[in-house]
Amino acid sequence: MSVKSILEHRNSVRHYDPSYKISPDMLVSLIESAGKSPNGNNIQSVRYLIIDDPQIQKSLLPIAFNQQQVADASALIVMLGDYKAFQAENIVQIHEEGFQSGYFDESLRDFLAQAAIDYYADKSDEELGMELTRDVSLAAMSLVLLAKEAGLDTVMMSGYDSKQLKAALNISERYLDVMLIAIGKGIKAGHRTVRHEVHKVIYRNKLT
Ligand SMILES: Cc1cc2nc3c(=O)[nH]c(=O)nc-3n(C[C@H](O)[C@H](O)[C@H](O)COP(=O)(O)O)c2cc1C
Repeated sequence: MSVKSILEHRNSVRHYDPSYKISPDMLVSLIESAGKSPNGNNIQSVRYLIIDDPQIQKSLLPIAFNQQQVADASALIVMLGDYKAFQAENIVQIHEEGFQSGYFDESLRDFLAQAAIDYYADKSDEELGMELTRDVSLAAMSLVLLAKEAGLDTVMMSGYDSKQLKAALNISERYLDVMLIAIGKGIKAGHRTVRHEVHKVIYRNKLT
């Protein structure tokens, strides 16, 4: 299926077969591919907390406003951004790996690493949160497209109480929870959705 075709045919699915289990290998493979998504300075801040224990899934129902897909999907993936990724140590290490892999020379390694360190140095917590939100969202979109290609269904979810979710899953302040993705085998197609006519959302050279 082409990317265009996946985009044309995907819809958020909210009813899942609770008996269907995605193999752990399949999930890892999807996540590995989603990890190739663009990300700021390649600092690789995205983390994926897979919840596939039915008991834990059920316990999250009230935290997610009783949205049944939380319990019935094969897995929930908590899409997290790791604030630790902004640390110079991580940035230097990633660029060293690129150098060791032969992808760039020493001078580009040092230039890219320093540019990244400088880029994040004076950012507020709010700005860093925005950086994480961008990177996690791009990986999330890739994961949703890859899942559809693999014959699976998904729904992205921000409909949950962030504080309660973090407490229930022991997620520390080191991480920003950006969204959940429920993934599994749909038993009822998602309702179709409209989009604005394309010319209503495009501006040329200035907003009118
Ligand atoms: C960030 C984000 C959060 C969302 N949260 C929820 C949610 O909590 N529950 C839900 O049923 N759908 C949720 N959705 C799905 C949207 O409602 C859905 O994408 C939108 O209505 C368009 O429909 P489609 O995905 O079928 O094209 C969310 C989507 C996004 C991108």
